[in-house]
Amino acid sequence: MAKLTIEDLKKMSWDEFYGTPLKDKLKFFEKDGNLFDCLFAQQFSRPLLEKLFETATRIRTIAKSKGGMDWLQTLLSNKRAMLYFVQPSTRTFLSFQSACYILGLKVSEIRSTSTSSELKGESPEDTIRTFSSYADLIIMRHFQEGFAEKSAYILNKTKRPVRIINGGSGKDQHPTQALLDMYTLNLSFSNRGGIDNKTIMMVGDLKRGRTVRSLTHLLKHYKNVKLIYVAPEYLKIEDDIKVFLKKNKMPFIESDDLVKNLKYADAVYMTRIQDEYDVNNESKSIDYTKFHLKKEMLKHLKKDTIIMHPLPRRKELDIEIDNDPRAMYWRQERNGMWIRAALIATMFGIGDEILKFANQ
Ligand code: NCD
Repeated sequence: MAKLTIEDLKKMSWDEFYGTPLKDKLKFFEKDGNLFDCLFAQQFSRPLLEKLFETATRIRTIAKSKGGMDWLQTLLSNKRAMLYFVQPSTRTFLSFQSACYILGLKVSEIRSTSTSSELKGESPEDTIRTFSSYADLIIMRHFQEGFAEKSAYILNKTKRPVRIINGGSGKDQHPTQALLDMYTLNLSFSNRGGIDNKTIMMVGDLKRGRTVRSLTHLLKHYKNVKLIYVAPEYLKIEDDIKVFLKKNKMPFIESDDLVKNLKYADAVYMTRIQDEYDVNNESKSIDYTKFHLKKEMLKHLKKDTIIMHPLPRRKELDIEIDNDPRAMYWRQERNGMWIRAALIATMFGIGDEILKFANQ
């Protein structure tokens, strides 16, 4: 079949568009070869990741001085962002808000459908279209898988296409969390040859955790990364991810034994049980305590293994670990602000200006 053009894609109904393989429609979310919308981890290449890491570190350095911060805040002072977060969020919301402040964007927010006209029966699609009247960028978190994509599908066909960033779409994807996770891995392994050749262990609710799904996609860009997925039987990684791993020849094992595998890991990525997605209280019958990382287990880790968590945590990550030098999760959450600023800057085409800026 001939390659689909943007015009072909624009003519499609939503169902046809949604059913089209991702690789055939990625260009719909680009402009002049650059990211226009950020919806999926599959939109990132290794050169783009590396550029984002460099931009994030540059922003972080420039922001240290008042002069530098003042300059950053001029860069997008003519732009407005809408934060539409109708699923609970602390870090993603605050780090995006802070990222917008760093770059001078003006921010508006809606955090619940109970305070928007959706309560009066307005459709989510009309709500998004309304945001586009007032904003240049919509950053959204939604419980419905595919809704961020649908928003981009709608807006990119209008005369006022507005950029969309997906801050979490149901159980499906959380691409910007994966960016901050990769940035954290890259910084942590900077004196050890980077992310290539590392073993990353992901633990917990791998079935419904969107962060592990997006992170797995990004790890594909690094050589010889091995994955260990540790989960209860019912919460094992989904088949689409296993197909992806096999297709990309990424070695992986699955296990339900946390302690046995700790010694192999260069990074241990803990996650909480995602029981908000339970249909029938099924989480209640799972013994999640076997997937809790306790302080006494740290003796099994290599001395330079890093411990990560997208947060929020419950009991799966012992608070007594917080002061261990291998605990990286508090830095990880702060890294989110810098990489999200780098992403917004790059999407608005000012990444290179930031990289060129000579800090006095
Ligand atoms: C994650 C999420 O929302 O998917 N949180 C986050 O964005 N840092 C993980 C979670 O909620 O468990």
